[in-house]
Amino acid sequence: MTRADWEKSYARTESALRSAGVEKTADLPTLEEVRVRFLGRKSELTELLKSLKDLSIEDKRDLGPKAQGLKASFEAALEARKSVLEESGDAAALAADAIDLSLPAIRPPKGRLHPLTTTLHEIARIFQLMGYSWAEGPFVEDEKHNFSALNIPDDHPARDSHDTFYLQGLPYLLRTHTSTVQIRTMETQRPPLRVVCPGRVFRHEQIDATHSAVFHQVEGLVVDENIGLADLKGHLQTFLQKLLGASTKTRFRPSYFPFTEPSTEVDVKCFFCPGTGCPSCKHTGWIEILGAGVVNPVVFKAIGYDEKKWSGFAFGIGVERVAMLLHGVRDLRDFYTNDIRFLKQFDESLT
Ligand code: PHE
Repeated sequence: MTRADWEKSYARTESALRSAGVEKTADLPTLEEVRVRFLGRKSELTELLKSLKDLSIEDKRDLGPKAQGLKASFEAALEARKSVLEESGDAAALAADAIDLSLPAIRPPKGRLHPLTTTLHEIARIFQLMGYSWAEGPFVEDEKHNFSALNIPDDHPARDSHDTFYLQGLPYLLRTHTSTVQIRTMETQRPPLRVVCPGRVFRHEQIDATHSAVFHQVEGLVVDENIGLADLKGHLQTFLQKLLGASTKTRFRPSYFPFTEPSTEVDVKCFFCPGTGCPSCKHTGWIEILGAGVVNPVVFKAIGYDEKKWSGFAFGIGVERVAMLLHGVRDLRDFYTNDIRFLKQFDESLT
């Protein structure tokens, strides 16, 4: 090949490179096509470089750098275009992904405590203000803590499997009241003591508008010297007036519990009617709200407290019943169905 021929192909290649318009390539795939077209094994530029070997030594020395320069500037142009395209690709991706921070966020619906939980807390809180501490115990209990330590005899109906959930083949049951926690407290602490025992309890109940197999209680126990019925009345009256209002009227009716003697049922004057009778008070003018009594000395004896030195009183409040009265709920099952329309009524922020 003559020098003149080589220079002609050089000029052709150079003009082909220029008209390929590397710096105007639209995207990365097109740029790659251009690269392969000029730098591929059989491409024009590669052929030009290869053909240097057919020239004389002097021509080679003269034209070699020129050819290498052409290749280098083409490669540099490719590289420059590549980084421009990559950058604008990133920018486009970022723009597509952009988050408008000025838009208000989508708020998940705000939950809140269940009305039974707030009622339980409210009951316990009032007693805590009166110096009671909070005690909890297990749901699964033995017969001793649920029955015998509480002077509940073997033939008491609460022991019947129709009233109680026993664990199959085991001497355990789901506690039927939170009095179990009072026994556990007395086993581990010495008097004087004041405790409230809030929690879930289980009975084999026929479920209806006022009964549930799972419900909640807040029971309480006070043990000290010279505690009697007057203390019981004072504490419970104070509690009920704090819970339901200062003008709340209370009534103590004789009752029976094996673990208290004497025992009483406590009513409040109906706050749905002026005492004339309505469905809420079963037309009696009074609403039964809790059970209580002076602790039977046999309970102290069984636990190992000196029953001549210590005396006390205990009470048990049904949380569902109080929540129904406070909120005017007529069917207890509404508390358990988790219908958001029902729960929403207890807080504006539930949406
Ligand atoms: N444990 C009783 C019940 O569940 C309630 C109660 C507690 C009554 C303490 C009197 C004293 O029915």
